[in-house]
Amino acid sequence: MRISSPAFFVGLAFPALVWGADTEVTFSRDIAPLLQQRCVECHRDGGGAPFSLESYRDASRRASTILRVVEDRYMPPWHAIGGDIPLEGDRQLMPAQIELFRAWVEGGKAEGDPSDLPAPRQFVEGWQLGEPDLVIKMAEAYSLPADGPDIYRNFVVPTGLTQERFLRAVEFRPGSAEVVHHALLFVEGTDKARKADAEDEEPGFGEMPIDAAGGRQIGGWVPGARTRPLPEGLSHRIPAGADIVIQTHFHLSGKPESEQSTIGLYFTDEPPEREFAAIQIPPLFGAFSGIDLKPGEERAEIHDSFELPVPVHAFGAHAHAHYRGKSLRMVAKLPSGESLKLLNIPDWDMNWQEDYRFTEQVFLPAGTRLEVDVAWDNSAESTDNPVVPPVRVRWGFESLDEMGSIDLFVVPTGDQKIASNSMKTLQRAYRQHLVWCAGEHVLRPDKLAIFGDLRRKAIERFDRNEDGFLGFEERKTASAFLKRSTIKD
Ligand code: HEC
Repeated sequence: MRISSPAFFVGLAFPALVWGADTEVTFSRDIAPLLQQRCVECHRDGGGAPFSLESYRDASRRASTILRVVEDRYMPPWHAIGGDIPLEGDRQLMPAQIELFRAWVEGGKAEGDPSDLPAPRQFVEGWQLGEPDLVIKMAEAYSLPADGPDIYRNFVVPTGLTQERFLRAVEFRPGSAEVVHHALLFVEGTDKARKADAEDEEPGFGEMPIDAAGGRQIGGWVPGARTRPLPEGLSHRIPAGADIVIQTHFHLSGKPESEQSTIGLYFTDEPPEREFAAIQIPPLFGAFSGIDLKPGEERAEIHDSFELPVPVHAFGAHAHAHYRGKSLRMVAKLPSGESLKLLNIPDWDMNWQEDYRFTEQVFLPAGTRLEVDVAWDNSAESTDNPVVPPVRVRWGFESLDEMGSIDLFVVPTGDQKIASNSMKTLQRAYRQHLVWCAGEHVLRPDKLAIFGDLRRKAIERFDRNEDGFLGFEERKTASAFLKRSTIKD
């Protein structure tokens, strides 16, 4: 589902503007093409948005709302704005296109000549990349109550593969999109997750047991997610007999629901030429960054940076925060002094978390410093604040807690051997950074003696009820989280 580049639209949008005020802006000639390119991917039957914007009737009765949401840049949903690197599938409207909406609405919403209408845009129905090579589904549905706190639950779905395969892309389809807030997918080559599942009477299992979290993340889903293959030459190895573990975060909807998700897997016959890594800054979604928002605080910020020890090509980025997230930015400071805004999200919206892919890979030499700033708004005035009057908010898993970080996806440069050595160097440096973050921000001074014992430090941070004692559940959570979030060997 490719979207044409903004430049193409300037061409489309300008004629009406340069013809001057006398030229009437019409739906058929000027607005329908814009709606088709920027809106109907969601605003059509089965597209995920609450109403269609395909016809003149659809659009004209909502004209003033349309104008409001495009001027506010609330629609189309696209939050990475003002970065230096062009992104695939950029949905932003150009200022001239917003002007065109304004001219149409203020000029009386003319329909124009239906023969000017563009041909209807064709969409792939069903799986975004066509029929997957393998479709697997949760064996049973999981029942959810009408309300209560958020639920994290893991589900094990066997692949049934009889030989190793190389995964290029994965699509997750929630059975009940109303309650699935987001889902992460891991590949698990051992029977640990299965055992945990067997020990739990209901479908799936709750907390990840300490040793069942060694799996590698292969994908995820959030509302508005698009399915994209990895760049050429990259793939995930899926061992024979592996399971896919779905870690689902449920946000209850007010009525009882049941969830049974489906996963589509796309394979390639070519083994991966290269390894890639997600460099998450700050590490562990900011668990060690001292996230502590005061009630009513309008701007709370954290900063973290990491220096690349080896040259890499970056191919994409992903940001994560919860409701009160305000802005996230990652800047690369190159050794030359040049600085590149890799990802800039000035107005975060938790509902529209994209997996951003650069249109071209970005070379970052060794010595490049990746700087990340995350800010939150915990004021009563913020319409995104889920708790008003505001309360103190700290780091945590639930969406009412906060988190914040940006992942940069990178492939070390050089031939296979050099790249593979570089990957080890990168992993070592990242671990050191993680330990540094943990020691710097989290540990009480009396615990600093165990510097180097990374897991122990992480566990210290997970004493969520602050009773000075780490309960069994807290320990499991901490360990699982730490393992998942560290770059794997
Ligand atoms: C990626 C999917 C997507 C795209 C693309 C998209 N929308 Fe939406 N739109 C939604 C969803 C989902 C909602 C309902 C939830 C919400 O309001 O956030 C919505 C809501 C709206 C609303 C109602 C807002 C309100 O306050 O009631 C309008 C009007 C709208 N969209 C117009 C547009 C226009 C115009 C475009 C193109 C310029 C567009 N949308 C592109 C998904 C999309």
